[in-house]
Amino acid sequence: MVSETHNLTKHWQALDAAHHVHPFADTAALNAEGVRVITKADGVYLWDSEGRKIIDGMAGLWCVQVGYGNKELAEAGCEALRVLPYYNHFFKTSNPYTIDLAAKLALLLPNGHEHVLFANSGSEANDTALKLIRYYWNLRGRPDKKIHISRELAYHGVTFAAASLSGLTPMHPQWDLPLPGFAKVPAPYWFGAKAAGYGDIDPEEFGLLIARQLEDRILELGPERVASFSAEPIQGAGGLIFPPATYWPEVQNICAKYDVLLHIDEVITGFGRTGEWFGCQTYAIHPDIISMAKGLSSGYQPISGVSLGKRMADTILNANEEMVHGYTYSGHPVASAVAVRNLEVIERTGLVPRVKNSIGPYLQRRLHETFENHPLVGEVRGHGLLAAVELVPNKPERSFFPEIGRVGSHCRNYCFGSGLISRAIRDTMVLSPPLTVSEGEIEEIVAKLKDAIDRTAHDFGKM
Ligand SMILES: Cc1ncc(COP(=O)(O)O)c(C=O)c1O
Repeated sequence: MVSETHNLTKHWQALDAAHHVHPFADTAALNAEGVRVITKADGVYLWDSEGRKIIDGMAGLWCVQVGYGNKELAEAGCEALRVLPYYNHFFKTSNPYTIDLAAKLALLLPNGHEHVLFANSGSEANDTALKLIRYYWNLRGRPDKKIHISRELAYHGVTFAAASLSGLTPMHPQWDLPLPGFAKVPAPYWFGAKAAGYGDIDPEEFGLLIARQLEDRILELGPERVASFSAEPIQGAGGLIFPPATYWPEVQNICAKYDVLLHIDEVITGFGRTGEWFGCQTYAIHPDIISMAKGLSSGYQPISGVSLGKRMADTILNANEEMVHGYTYSGHPVASAVAVRNLEVIERTGLVPRVKNSIGPYLQRRLHETFENHPLVGEVRGHGLLAAVELVPNKPERSFFPEIGRVGSHCRNYCFGSGLISRAIRDTMVLSPPLTVSEGEIEEIVAKLKDAIDRTAHDFGKM
């Protein structure tokens, strides 16, 4: 007998297939398979329309810091919806929610970042950041500084500029990108160094070597033409690439030497994910400009921001002309109210020190204990509540599977099947759970991931 819930699922799947175009999807294949309909969420769990309970090891798309179902955030949003559901900031106006949010961020952001512009997504934040970088150099009388350097395997979003900045090459051909004026340098991906021909180099030496390729690139392009270097403190969607300790100090010296603005994308690493409020603080990075989104509202509302460090703020905010930029929803009152409450909850419940001192180290320890010597695992790496388990055919060789992504997606399907969301990036299984995740829930995640990796190893003859 076909149940009522199953009929409802079929109904939604059919309507979705008929009318809804999904992001990052092969539409025809997805429609043939039928989408999974998520109907509710609470804590670290999701439920689908078939009533299946799923543990979300990814906090949505790396964003639900406070977990699902937080009533305080819901109430803050409801109140703003009742009191001031919308107004803009164009007509010499502001509103208390957005003012509070900007002031709160100025307290939390790295030193010198006291001014924030708001947008609605990480992509828009990065687009805005690049425009501000161009504007800065124009105001400084350096209009030739127009080239934006970023890294291979970087993910910065999907607008024309953010996708051009991204270094995941499959993102480009469909849209004839990157635009002119974008250049790339390698990522400090030590695990991949051997396969890339760097031999048995140790991580610290590799960090320096990769940083110095930024210098080579700047010199090749001409420092007088290079506007900025953009990077995530830890590369997220590129496969969780944690830079060796030598990398960031050297990159910062190089940017300073050639007067290249340092643009840091904190869209994933912001708001406690690494055990500090921002990834910049974890790696002692001093950026000129920062993009943020996701954890700013724990994903409860679409909101993002760009903060200006002192030298950019001094120039741009004293330009004495209209800055011709901004969105209808920049600093939306409802999104701002939710974001303010989100930051208050993160602060009051001590989630950032929790990630640094207890739950982050717990996740890392349990993953190392479980997977360090697994026959299918090449490396377990992580920091705070970001973690990756890289699946490889040969650990000592640090080589990759010939058909990149096949083993990872096979394992990801086992995870889904057992009610765990872990993302496969190439053949790396990635975790980024809500900052509220408990030790018991981490045990559930680790056990389900172990089962999926064991089964994958068996299917590919590694066990
Ligand atoms: C580091 C980084 N920057 C930017 C973005 C783009 O954000 P959005 O999808 O909100 O446009 C993402 C999204 O995952 C991201 O991980």
